Amino acid sequence: KDTYEIAVVPGDGIGPEVADAAVRVLRGAFGNDCPLRFCDHPAGAELYRQTGESFPQATFRACAQADAVLHGAAGIPGVVHPDGTEAGLDFTLRLRFELDLYANIRPIRLYPGIRSPLADVKAGEIDYIILRENSEGLYAARGAGAQLRGEMAVDTLVQTRKGVERIVRKAFELARASNGAPADGVRRVTCVDKANVLRSYAFFRSIFDEVAADYPDIEAEHGLIDAMAMYLVTRPGHYNVIVTENMFGDILSDLAAATIGGMGLAPSAEVGERQGLFQAAHGSAPDIAGKGIANPYGTVLSAASMLEWLAANHDDDRLARAASRIREAVSAAIEAGLISRDLGGDSGSALITQGLCERLR
Ligand code: IPM
Ligand code: MN
Repeated sequence: KDTYEIAVVPGDGIGPEVADAAVRVLRGAFGNDCPLRFCDHPAGAELYRQTGESFPQATFRACAQADAVLHGAAGIPGVVHPDGTEAGLDFTLRLRFELDLYANIRPIRLYPGIRSPLADVKAGEIDYIILRENSEGLYAARGAGAQLRGEMAVDTLVQTRKGVERIVRKAFELARASNGAPADGVRRVTCVDKANVLRSYAFFRSIFDEVAADYPDIEAEHGLIDAMAMYLVTRPGHYNVIVTENMFGDILSDLAAATIGGMGLAPSAEVGERQGLFQAAHGSAPDIAGKGIANPYGTVLSAASMLEWLAANHDDDRLARAASRIREAVSAAIEAGLISRDLGGDSGSALITQGLCERLR
């Protein structure tokens, strides 16, 4: 392939700022010979406020047809549907369900130069992946739950054999491709559930055990969600790949992000068989929008994941090389002190983006 079509959806709040930074860095990584073609498309809560529509059909079609989708962030507090749910979230949630982006890969890595709020944890000692099931679980109830006369409401947690099997298999494949857990170098997959209390999670665990038997070279273990919230604080170095249900993955990934400096450094890749959505795990931070202080690293690292995913899918080494150059630039920039406010520094988005582009030259 000569060129890749990237659908860019800036969204709300700091979304346009971080998306712009990521596009600049992607361009910077290729210089004059950029194989990516970027095209912007509207979606989000502000659009909903103006037009009554948060995710136009034309944007959906562009995303479905693009080689990859790069998203800033979406959502404005108070801009809600009649049922009280946020309008800005339609973009991400509809893409997940309608394009079947079942694997949400969230790398948790402590960079040199960043201080973890955990005592005595050094760079390199936190380095694992949370693999969040992204197409079913409790989120499958979105828009399908019921609310009865203001007196009760229900949402149903759904686990299918096909859905659990494919995400667990992906977890073992990711572990096989990894260097193992930081503390002991053991390649390990941890299944996180609440199998002691609920059937849906016991089902998830039983399928995990079946699939684990196909990977005798990888250690398989179970963790209950409540205990895991503690262990990710007390022994983060033990983990390599964590696989879990949609809602648990959502919660655990914010907790994990806090241990590596915060949401500003938490990238994510949401992929299916042929399509992919790349965006930071953080929200639209409307309180700091337009001030030039948003942290672009999460989106930049997500853009690097996008290149790696495209490289693997299209067997294109150029993209893999650009991705590793971006990762090196991020490490170097952070170590050189290009650190945003949320991480305790004072560098603005423009300065960080410029610093990354200089390192890529
Ligand atoms: C995330 C976000 C999303 C989620 C929102 C934006 C729908 O919190 O990607 O973690 O709840 O999954
Ligand atoms: Mn979340």
